[in-house]
Amino acid sequence: MFTIITGAQFGDEGKGKIVDLMSGNYDLVVRFQGGDNAGHTVKVGEDVYKLHLIPSGFLLDSRVLIGPGTVLNPEVLAREMDMLAEGGIVLTPEKLGVDAKTSIIMPYHVELDGLKESRRTEKIGTTKRGIGFAYIDKVARDEVRMADLADPEKLRCRLLELAPSKEAAIRELEGDPAIVTSKDLMDKYVELGRRLAPYMTDVSYEINKALEDGRNVLAEGAQGTHLDVIHGTQKFVTSSSTVAGSACANLGVGPTKVDEVLGIVKAYITRVGEGPLPTELTDETGRRIQQVGREFGTTTGRARRCGWFDLPLLRKAIYLNGYTSLALTKLDVLSGLAQVKVCVAYELDSRIVDYPPEGTAELARCRPVYEDLPGWESDLTGVKSFDDLPGAAQQYVRYLENKMGVPITYVSVGPGREQTFQR
Ligand code: GDP
Ligand code: IMO
Ligand code: MG
Repeated sequence: MFTIITGAQFGDEGKGKIVDLMSGNYDLVVRFQGGDNAGHTVKVGEDVYKLHLIPSGFLLDSRVLIGPGTVLNPEVLAREMDMLAEGGIVLTPEKLGVDAKTSIIMPYHVELDGLKESRRTEKIGTTKRGIGFAYIDKVARDEVRMADLADPEKLRCRLLELAPSKEAAIRELEGDPAIVTSKDLMDKYVELGRRLAPYMTDVSYEINKALEDGRNVLAEGAQGTHLDVIHGTQKFVTSSSTVAGSACANLGVGPTKVDEVLGIVKAYITRVGEGPLPTELTDETGRRIQQVGREFGTTTGRARRCGWFDLPLLRKAIYLNGYTSLALTKLDVLSGLAQVKVCVAYELDSRIVDYPPEGTAELARCRPVYEDLPGWESDLTGVKSFDDLPGAAQQYVRYLENKMGVPITYVSVGPGREQTFQR
């Protein structure tokens, strides 16, 4: 079985939590795009893991893979491996694999991201992890690949070849070009390459072989649908394709192999960074959701902007991903509100539309049209089944499901692994 999981909104929907939960049924768990701009949280008992690169299936028996469509900062990967090892979780090459074709995020990508963002008059609010610049180099065929990193001689040659253009790019943004070829950096990357070399693999081959042998593969998306580089709210997007189809292209698996596409969706919406968010709440309710939901970025610590559930954006996410089912997370966060609002349509230039306009500027002009639903008082964090939810919370879930036309198969009421039930 081949299952793809993606975020249905603007990221941080709780993908890490659901992937951890589901990984018990999967032999391989694979990241297919993005880099350490992602921050995925897994909570089991009192242990909380906040990981940026290592797929969220690492705790159970699955083998975890980083696919060739990702951009990999080897320092971050090494740090995550060390952090897990300190807690007794040692990721051997039997447990973790990195595709040989994966693009490496070099320090000059991080530098360029920071320089460029600080010079933008209209900011994107990137995570400054070098993501965009690493993808530029991939497409320009100027990337350093995992296979180059793993071979000191290749790495030296590649860096010498690339150095003049990288130095010029940094100089143009008034940065310090010394970072490109510094001896310390070269030594550090040679060492990282040595360490990661045993993990190199062919991810496409591994997945296809596993599927042929009747084993189960779970593809873990990063970011969210509306941050997709093609279909998202340009320019306020990330630099990779975050929708489900991207998993096939990026992992080298044919679309005929896909069995399920699960969308992760919060019971409200959040966004970190700039860009339109039609249902954004800048009032007390927004602050309350932010505090109760602990809506602060896993990667950058920035406060996430919060808003009511946005059905037009979900309709688009359902089209873009072809979801077969949805997992609704953070329902517990809405407890204690007298009323819960759902945006069912937008008013755009005196017209009512129930699907987002394609242009970002038009989306920014959309004013939400709400339907009100009754809220519920009680704390949901101990609820173990759908039937045990208060009536109004059940009504909210059913209402969303009817409006979206896709079954909500998981409901999550807390960060812990046990705080999820299937319907
Ligand atoms: P991801 O990027 O999609 O993996 O999501 P993040 O890990 O960045 O953000 C989700 C946050 O919400 C994490 O801190 C999770 O521990 C937490 N979380 C996940 N599901 C729930 C839930 O149902 N209720 C609550 N209260 N927190 C949750
Ligand atoms: P996970 O996987 C939420 C946002 C950034 C910024 C934009 C571009 O945890 O859901 P980038 O550094 O990618 O060039 O920044 O994308 N962004 C995310 N927002 N969750 C994420 O990942 C994100 N990864 C990037 O805030 O607005
Ligand atoms: Mg996150």
